[in-house]
Amino acid sequence: MKGIILAGGSGSRLYPITLGISKQLMPIYDKPMIYYPLTVLMLADIREILLISTPVDLPQFRRLLGDGSKWGLKISYAEQAQPQGLAQALTIGKDFMGNDAVCMVLGDNIFYGQGFTGMLQNARRNAAQGRASVFAYPVQNPSRYGVVAVDEQGAALSIEEKPAKPKSNLAVTGLYFYPSGSWKVAENVVPSARGELEITSVNEHYLNAGCLSVERFGRGFAWLDTGTIDSMMEASAFIEAIEKRQGLLVASPEEVAFRRGFIGRDALAALAAPLCSTHYGQYLKRLADGE
Ligand code: DAU
Repeated sequence: MKGIILAGGSGSRLYPITLGISKQLMPIYDKPMIYYPLTVLMLADIREILLISTPVDLPQFRRLLGDGSKWGLKISYAEQAQPQGLAQALTIGKDFMGNDAVCMVLGDNIFYGQGFTGMLQNARRNAAQGRASVFAYPVQNPSRYGVVAVDEQGAALSIEEKPAKPKSNLAVTGLYFYPSGSWKVAENVVPSARGELEITSVNEHYLNAGCLSVERFGRGFAWLDTGTIDSMMEASAFIEAIEKRQGLLVASPEEVAFRRGFIGRDALAALAAPLCSTHYGQYLKRLADGE
């Protein structure tokens, strides 16, 4: 399975900050925002990743992530010249995906909670068997999101983009698993009333074909918003509280790479060394030392 991170857009809701830096490179507490969705893919054991961003921002992502080999990954890059919609990521990724299934994650989505890795692995298995998966989360303001309604067995009944009258309180999060051939579905998407190639249209296709699974995050799970400066600050405070309480890092690519066996202890120690002036680097050093 391949992975795609979509990290483009203008970031206009965060102006003037994002006039000079991509939103997805801004810090969420102690690490760049992009580390959070990147580690989601890594937890699903996905090691071939395409990062899509704007022509202006791509060089900075390259500087941060490189070719991914330091974390046992293979990261490649593609441009989205204009933010024409999330479904476009699948057509941009057509050659990269080939005949493989794919997991796509938005570069500004943050997930945290117990049981997440199991859910990812489950969705991965479903994709190999021809089923798409979306992940739903109860929110107070569903009209701001894609909204999925489900029956008593949890099967999807409808999926709509930013409905004025939502049929449920379940937002569709920015994490999608698709079986082989999803780029063909995306190629047939036509722009919505707001002029975007909606990922919701792709999801609707799988719903109509009877092969869309809806995985639900429970109330103990955190799907954090980074849409505004206030919600970004709140997400930072949340990650800070968890990390300080537990003495563990959330969403460190170095740690995930080590724990999942993508890199060995010596490689981890080498990654920790240049970071040793921060708690982040000291944590990695302790991990490499086996403490
Ligand atoms: O976050 C989950 C939501 O993401 C879903 O519930 C919605 O169904 C989905 O449409 C999307 O809604 P948003 O209103 O959050 O989409 P937005 O236009 O803000 O784009 C999400 C991120 O993707 C944002 O960081 C910018 C980036 N983006 C967006 C577009 C349209 C791109 O990189 N390229 C694009 O073409």
